[in-house]
Amino acid sequence: MSNFEPVKTVIVGCGMIAEKGYQPRCQAYPQKIELVGYYDQDVSRAEYLAQNGGGKVYQSLDGVLNDPDVEAIINLTIHTGHYPVSLAGLKAGKHVYSEKPVALRVEEADELVEAADAMDVKFACAPVAMLGYVQQNVWKRIRDGEIGEVVSAVGNFGGPIEYWHPTADAFMKAGVGPFKDVAPYPLTAMTTMIGPVKRVHGLARITIPERMLHQGPRAGTKYQVTEKDHGFGLLEFENGAYGLLYHSWTARSEIPAYEIHGTKGIFSIQAHDDGRGIRKCIPTGDWQAENSPAGAYTGLDWGKGPADFADAIRNDRPVRCSGKHARHVLEICERVFESADKGVPIDVVSRFPAPVPVGDTPPWA
Ligand SMILES: NC(=O)c1ccc[n+]([C@@H]2O[C@H](COP(=O)([O-])OP(=O)(O)OC[C@H]3O[C@@H](n4cnc5c(N)ncnc54)[C@H](O)[C@@H]3O)[C@@H](O)[C@H]2O)c1
Repeated sequence: MSNFEPVKTVIVGCGMIAEKGYQPRCQAYPQKIELVGYYDQDVSRAEYLAQNGGGKVYQSLDGVLNDPDVEAIINLTIHTGHYPVSLAGLKAGKHVYSEKPVALRVEEADELVEAADAMDVKFACAPVAMLGYVQQNVWKRIRDGEIGEVVSAVGNFGGPIEYWHPTADAFMKAGVGPFKDVAPYPLTAMTTMIGPVKRVHGLARITIPERMLHQGPRAGTKYQVTEKDHGFGLLEFENGAYGLLYHSWTARSEIPAYEIHGTKGIFSIQAHDDGRGIRKCIPTGDWQAENSPAGAYTGLDWGKGPADFADAIRNDRPVRCSGKHARHVLEICERVFESADKGVPIDVVSRFPAPVPVGDTPPWA
């Protein structure tokens, strides 16, 4: 019988992803996480989640942070809320798990990382798709030399967001854009499997300055695009490998979601979820499909990240999806746009502790 005490955790930001993803999947790991309460600036949303799962409804963020029974918060506010809510949580001495992007600017991410270190609390950040069985399987095979020396990787995610997201306008404001929002998926996989990026070259611009929402209660509303909505990033990894990122809110491409190229083969997988199998290209140029490894979750298991985070808190070990890693990913995205503006390559200076493979006994098992 384990004597692991579940970490008492409050969800801050009780929107779609809290309801459909984090609440049910954290409840799937009750041995690691106890959801003790909910807070949203729209209190009715917190009440709705509390009705689903029990727990306290907080009336303010201060109410959460001043509650000595709360050990950790999961920050599921939208991108503009990540930095202020996480910083308040860390400064209050709570362990913090955040959705991506970790912040909107690298300086903010620096402050978060420093606050976590100063308060000696854990700071973790999505995406956590790298904890998936498919991703871990491929990563191990790469470390074992199955595709030879890794020479490059490709990532792609996006499409005309206003056709499927009811608040697409929030993702096209200055400071956000497709890189900070969705590049964290392939970039986290690349930087886990290959290591840090040292320099980027960017091409990016606004392609459709005025758009219209096509989904949700505000469908038909026109809005101005004030951040680059379409672009490419070329990456130089510290170990000599190259990377290509394509992220756009304008054109959906069939560039693979995530490919990693070696001198003896290529793996192609999803960067943002687990159970969609693996494709491998062998030196003859033929592609072979493999089933997902045993245990793979179909879709993204939102609970694995918080379970690893809780395990790290109780065992006082580093989290696998660290705030420092998320800061590096954010810096790459910021530098791609800076490079596009200046027309020159830009160095990436942040680094992060190398993530540790999950191994045979996952913390959520
Ligand atoms: N929706 C997805 O498919 C998806 C997928 C992956 C990641 N994410 C990320 O998860 C986060 C949440 O996404 P979502 O789709 O649930 O958004 P959402 O808009 O449905 O929910 C966000 C909630 O946070 C609340 N909120 C915002 N600022 C707050 C603050 N300062 N304090 C308290 N509450 C606040 C809002 O009232 C809202 O209820 C975003 O960062 C998003 O990028 C979303």
